[in-house]
This record gives sequence, C-alpha cells and structure tokens, in this order.
Amino acid sequence: MPKVKRLSPLVIKRIAAGEVVERPASVVKELVENSLDADSSRIVVRVEDGGKRLIEVSDNGTGMSEEDALLAVERYTTSKIESPSDLEAITTLGFRGEALYAISSVSMFVMTTKREEDDVGTKVVVHGGVLKEVSRVPRERGTTVSVRNLFFNLRARRKFLRSKRTEESHVRRVLMEYAVCCPHVEFEYYEDGQPYFLLPRASVEDRLSTLLGDVIDEKALEDDGLVLKLFLVKTARFQGDIFFFVNKRAVWERALFASIRRQLKQKFLSWELPAVVLFAEVNPAMIDVNVHPSKREVKFKEREKLFEKVLSMISEKKSFLSDASGTSYPFRWKKPDRGQESTQLTLETGGGEEALSYRFVGEYAGVFLLYEDLESGDLVVVDKHAFHERLIFDAILGDDAGKQPVFIPFPGLKELACYEKLFSFLGFDVDFESEVVLSVPSWARGREESVISELCFLMKNEEVSDLSHEELARKACRAAVKAGDTTSYVDAGFVIKVLQRRGFDLSCPHGRPVVVRLKKSDFESFFKRRR
Ligand SMILES: Nc1ncnc2c1ncn2[C@@H]1O[C@H](COP(=O)(O)OP(=O)(O)O)[C@@H](O)[C@H]1O
Ligand SMILES: [Mg+2]
Repeated sequence: MPKVKRLSPLVIKRIAAGEVVERPASVVKELVENSLDADSSRIVVRVEDGGKRLIEVSDNGTGMSEEDALLAVERYTTSKIESPSDLEAITTLGFRGEALYAISSVSMFVMTTKREEDDVGTKVVVHGGVLKEVSRVPRERGTTVSVRNLFFNLRARRKFLRSKRTEESHVRRVLMEYAVCCPHVEFEYYEDGQPYFLLPRASVEDRLSTLLGDVIDEKALEDDGLVLKLFLVKTARFQGDIFFFVNKRAVWERALFASIRRQLKQKFLSWELPAVVLFAEVNPAMIDVNVHPSKREVKFKEREKLFEKVLSMISEKKSFLSDASGTSYPFRWKKPDRGQESTQLTLETGGGEEALSYRFVGEYAGVFLLYEDLESGDLVVVDKHAFHERLIFDAILGDDAGKQPVFIPFPGLKELACYEKLFSFLGFDVDFESEVVLSVPSWARGREESVISELCFLMKNEEVSDLSHEELARKACRAAVKAGDTTSYVDAGFVIKVLQRRGFDLSCPHGRPVVVRLKKSDFESFFKRRR
C-alpha cells in the first residue's frame, strides 16, 4: 500500500465536511471500509453492548508501518488520494483521511498493525485525541482497531446513543451490506461474544442465500462501460428490501427504490416480494462520491440513463421466474419454507389443500371477486377492499409476532417521537433519533414506505393519541389500504382459502360486509326457470 500522506489544504477544502462518527455503526462502517481498502480477505468484527462498550475490527490486510500508523490517526492523512484531481475518480472506499482521526478523538482507541515485510508490529493508543502510547508488539500481518467507550468524552453525544438492540441493528445492516457486496471476503461478526454470522468466502449467489435467501432470478447488462447485475432473492425476512451498490459502495436512492418496488409489485404478490440486490459498476469519473460525509449518497453524471436501465431490467419479461402469467386463476399455493418465521398473512390459510369446492368465476367492477359454490351452486361475491381491511385490522390487533426487520430511513420521523407508543402498538420499531424504521409488521410488508407515510400523515394531522386501540387500528388500517392499490395483491385463491377457514360471515372493521351470497334459486326465479 502507498504511504500515508498529509492532504494539501487545496484538497481539504474540497472535501465534503461533516460528522463521520455518529454512532457505533458509523465506526464499524469506516473501519470495515479501511480493511477492504487494505485488500483484506478476512474481517472480524466484534461489538459489546451494541458497540457502546467496544467495537473491534480486525483484518489480515496490508497493515501499516509505524510511521504510517502514527500519521494515519491525524486529521486529513491518507494514502488514497493526493491531488484535487484524484477526487474526480475515486476507486477506494475511503479517501478523506478523517475516519481514524475522528474515531480516536472520541473514544479510547487502540490500533495494532503489521506489514508483511516487518518483523514486528506497531501499537498506537489514543485516548480522546491524545496520543498515549506507541510501542512495538508481535502480531500477524494486518490491522486491529479497538474502539472502547465511544463518546466517553462527549457526554451529550453518548446520551444520544440508543438501546443496545437499536445500535446492534444499525451495525448488522452495515455489515450485511459489505458482506453482500464482498462475497470474496470472509466475514465474522460477534455481538457480546456470540457469533451473529460467520461467512466463509463464497460466490455471490451463495453469500446471498446465506444472508437473505435463495436467488430466484439473475440478470446482467453491459453497456457503454456500465455493468449492471441484478439478483432477486426469495426471502422471508427481507421482502421488498433493496441493496444497491455502486462500485462496491452501498448507496441509498429513494426515488429509484420506490420505482423498483412499484415494478416488482406488478409481478409478485405482496407476501412473495423478493429482495433486490443490484450492483452497478461505473467509470469512477461518472460519479461523485464526495457529496456526503458518510458517503451514503453519490451523484451520478448520467443519473436518468442509469435508472432507466435498471428499471428496464426489472420490467423485462423474459427471465423472471415468477409465473404470474395472467391466467384467471393465478393463485399458486406454496407451503411456507421450513425455518421461515410463520408470520406471513398467507399462513392464515393453513395447509396445502386445494380450494376445490369453489370455482373462481371472475372479477367485477374492479373490487368484487365472484365465485361459484360448487356444492350449493350459489354465487359468492367478495368485496376485495373490505376483505383486505379485515385482514390488516386483525393483524394489527393480533400479537406482534409478525414483525420483520427492515432498514428504512424516513426523514421527518424525529418530530413524531412523541408517538413512539403508537408506532410500537401498530407493530413498527422506529429509531426516531436517526429517523430510521427498523421493523415493520407483516401487514405492511411490500408497501411499507407508503404505509409509513400515510401513518405519519395521520399522526401529524389528527388527534390520534387519545383514540382507543380499536379505533386506532381502524384508522391505521384505512391508511394501509389507502397506501397504494393494495387490493391488486389480494388474489382469488388466497381470498377463498382465508374465507373457508375463517367463515364467510366476516365484516370489515368499519362494519361493511365482506361477503354476499346470492342463491342459485334466486337466479332461477329471476329467469323464471322455477315455478
Ligand atoms: N485496516 C487498515 N489497514 C491498512 N491501512 C489502513 C487501515 N486503516 C487505515 N489505514 C491507513 O490509514 C489511512 C487513514 O485512514 P482513514 O483515517 O480511514 O482515512 P482514509 O480511509 O480516508 O484514507 C488510510 O489511508 C490507510 O493508508
Ligand atoms: Mg477510511
């Protein structure tokens, strides 16, 4: 690895300023990025107490000389760029030379490191920005950074750290992202000494199947220096989740994500929505990663073109395995996967028997499903809207076993922190401080963003705090149904199975009937076939 150097004031001026260290997950992100930039093939991460007590990242990468190790903990020192023009085409994950400085200023920091060619390693200890010790230590090639008591010297910041569970889920997300995008690297992750994942080196498909679920479709596109790879993953825990990597960097692109989800919903039932993993390799000169301190956002020079390509890949018919071919009876009953958390709405229908005694006749006026009862000959009419509201309502008032972990940043949540209890009653876990939704109930899966925005709208505009649980569930359920055309996911086979199991006398939470039965004998007398 090239030597660590101090950046010139000219470059420093052009670096997007801001806090690099917000919470344990941001420390993990910076340290793992350093390990990846150092060509490590094995990275071990440990956190204790959600990272508040300890964050440790060890790698077997290039390591540093003593001189470099000492320089690296200073501000604006990096081996990755030199001149302002280097900022135009960044090929490493780091480049600002700030992370080790920032981390060691707000923690009790110990780094040991050794290069292949050195006989002995170097240990650097920094407490709250003050260099405490430099010594020689034996170690293997590579680098270990231990960060204890994050923000011990900034009490206000320390107070803002959330519960162990919340901080852990942020760390998990960061590690998941790097683990997905670097399957050639072995990852180990421990929480309080317990292994959370141990990932051997693998192919992309195998890594995805370990972390998310089986790959059900795969597409690639190469055009004009742009390489796109798309994987759809059948998953129980990450339905509708989108992982987007640009040159191995995890990037949030809300608008693109919303369009991708919209496209997928035309192909998949909400409870079958896959996770999407999208890799884009672009010429580094075509993107600007120097726009945000945490490098979560990038500016694309040809944004529209790239997004169009991604969406056309998703809408392309040929290779998706989904066989929603538009037949009049598209329902495929699948037994839930073994080991899948049994929380999906689909499971309400129970086992795998066919709904033989009802024949689906068709749909009328966009909301009514018509069935012939093969035993009595009656015509059974189901109001899809009412049916769907009922399902959601029951799910809200039921237990919260249906929670699914997600990671959805949602600006504006902070001001709704006073509704924490309501969110949690409805089945959402929200980290208000960082404005991220951490889990959603199964009834909101697949359209979580619009459901959350409807709920936010409701909470901002109505006096919801003193409603009874039932009234609240009724309102939330209306918001959920309003959030997009949810009825298009209610398909005929599913509906009849639920009704067979639950009884045909359901009403929607607002009191309207879900099912109306028209007798065969009435039809016969309409048409004077009967005397
Ligand atoms: N795990 C590591 N292995 C080898 N070198 C490292 C490691 N972590 C940091 N370094 C060196 O320290 C320098 C400073 O790191 P950092 O403060 O994160 O800034 P940046 O990554 O932006 O260059 C890096 O440029 C790199 O040369
Ligand atoms: Mg770095």
